[in-house]
Amino acid sequence: MMPFLSAYSSGFPGGDPPVIPLPQEVSLGEGGFAVVAGHLIEAPPELRNEAEHLAAILAPALGAEPVRREGVDAGEGEGVIRLEIDEGLLEEFGGEGYELRVDAEEGVWVRGAAAAGVFYGIQTLRQLLPPEIAAAEPPGDVEWVLPVVEIRDRPRFSWRAFMLDESRYFKGGDEVRRLLDQMAALKMNVFHWHLTDDQGWRIEILKYPRLTEVGAWRSDSQIGGWNSEQYSGEPHGGFYAQDEIREIVAYAAARHIVIVPEIGMPGHASAAVAAYPWLGTKEEEIEVPGRFGKHEPTFNPASKRVYEAIGHIFDEVAELFPGPVIHLGGDEVKFNHWRESEEVAALMEREGLETMADVQIYFTNRVAAMIEERGRRAMGWNEILGGDLHGFLQDGQTASAATLAPGTVVHFWKGGTNEARRAIDGGYSVVNSNHSDTYLDYGYGRISLERAYSFDPMFQGLSPSEQERILGLGTQMWGEWIPTVERMEYQVYPRIAAYAEVGWTEPGRKNFASFRERLAAKAARWEILGIGYARDQATAYQRGDFFNFVEIDEWTPEQVGAEWGEVEFSTGGRLSGAGIWEVAFVYTHGAHALEIESLALLEDGREVARDERRAFSGNRMNDVVFRLALETHNPDVEYLLRARIRGSEGTDSHGELRMQGPL
Ligand code: ACM
Repeated sequence: MMPFLSAYSSGFPGGDPPVIPLPQEVSLGEGGFAVVAGHLIEAPPELRNEAEHLAAILAPALGAEPVRREGVDAGEGEGVIRLEIDEGLLEEFGGEGYELRVDAEEGVWVRGAAAAGVFYGIQTLRQLLPPEIAAAEPPGDVEWVLPVVEIRDRPRFSWRAFMLDESRYFKGGDEVRRLLDQMAALKMNVFHWHLTDDQGWRIEILKYPRLTEVGAWRSDSQIGGWNSEQYSGEPHGGFYAQDEIREIVAYAAARHIVIVPEIGMPGHASAAVAAYPWLGTKEEEIEVPGRFGKHEPTFNPASKRVYEAIGHIFDEVAELFPGPVIHLGGDEVKFNHWRESEEVAALMEREGLETMADVQIYFTNRVAAMIEERGRRAMGWNEILGGDLHGFLQDGQTASAATLAPGTVVHFWKGGTNEARRAIDGGYSVVNSNHSDTYLDYGYGRISLERAYSFDPMFQGLSPSEQERILGLGTQMWGEWIPTVERMEYQVYPRIAAYAEVGWTEPGRKNFASFRERLAAKAARWEILGIGYARDQATAYQRGDFFNFVEIDEWTPEQVGAEWGEVEFSTGGRLSGAGIWEVAFVYTHGAHALEIESLALLEDGREVARDERRAFSGNRMNDVVFRLALETHNPDVEYLLRARIRGSEGTDSHGELRMQGPL
């Protein structure tokens, strides 16, 4: 057979193959191998799923029915794309690694120790073909030539997750399947499905039909951002029937994606309480709220009937989702209803619980035990450790009498190094979804593609055995302000590709310039598939980007001059330790913007940290986050901020100073 010239005969552009995530070892040879009609895929019975998947990918090149099963004579044609399992490869590649070899004469081998590895080899293979392979009907003149190459590859982390919040806006099965396809192509393996929250319950539970009859529907939705008084005036709702969930679970499994369902509790419970008021501590009649932000209703942690219901719910959840982990939420509990409850007071007395954080841990441990009884492991956001992430624990009363059950997976999203340490020192397995680095609802100003790409889920300063407990990362598409699929795709793509590479590729091999180059090939495929990725990646901040910062002070026109001047602001008593503190100037209203050129941190009047940048905070916000590195913290002195500011062609601006840390 005549060897074909590969499109890469003078090397891969930028030196790396157009593959995301970048494989660990690549060696490019000379020439190419063309895949043509009549070629067949050979695979043993245990790789039937992978062979069919590859056949669907290669349909434009191979035509129909290209799979030759081992031991079955498919008639004419050559078996030149071989899928193989070799358990002897386990040590070198793990279950998800693979070896891909393309030979100019003999064709293609994809080998792995398990089906997942072979599947990922196929994802690499498809990216080595021209992007038009993604088209349902590609132009007729494309030659499907693979470069001669040897690739050996395996992932850095075992947990490479994408989360979709469908409570806030229901997107539906077609969109979920589209996302699963893209996750699979990027070798992501956990779909974290946020199915319940205050604004909607989206999973059918047969024993409690009102959860979806009532809880899946709301009459209105807040629009225009946090604290806005604007509403859409439109009802919204939807849910997944159990049969559709089974279908989606199978669709994901065929792509080696495990679904981790999140059934949130004890907070974020308004939709559940709207359906069954007795689930809540107050037993109040409420409606599913259309307002976003943190709500008060909570599951009653002192009620036998509530625990029984949770057990029944998890019976059905565990039956639907065969994956090893069930997420119980646990974030942002507002404790007011518990504080006001005599039942909760009696529970605390009976169980020796001292703080609200202890009550949450007691509740979490009971629910986690039920999840364990059903053969699964519980996971929750890092509030389940009992820290005070939001100032909701009055007098900073963190957990003191209760300890989170040891097998629970901690989903770290907020709280900086102190809270991360709490998880690590407690001996828990951790998935790192630090909001400042991984939240897809934040704009590209707050989390640029480069920042997403630079994220390292491994916390600094861990011993080798501690490092093993960092399972990997998640990236989260929260849904409050993304009513449409178009808006969602803009937020998700292309950053999801950066997170895929973070989860897979060893840090020493990562290179942002190379990633950008490879992303162009990826974007060509998204283009063909009609995926609305962010082409401009507008770098301006959005107000919502600072939702997880606390407000420490505000500025008003009285403080703003036409010329540069220095103004002092309070830290709101929030500067609680050494580390990096981020302070954002967030414009709220007024006809003109504020400009800021420096921010200093004063300890007892003496400057101890400083950041300089040219920030602009108006309807458009640029570079408005200042980073202050405090080396040592003195609890006995006052910390103040001093900013150099001026009005931008007018002095009538208003805004908030918002802070987070220590990072
Ligand atoms: C979260 O963002 N509330 C986990």
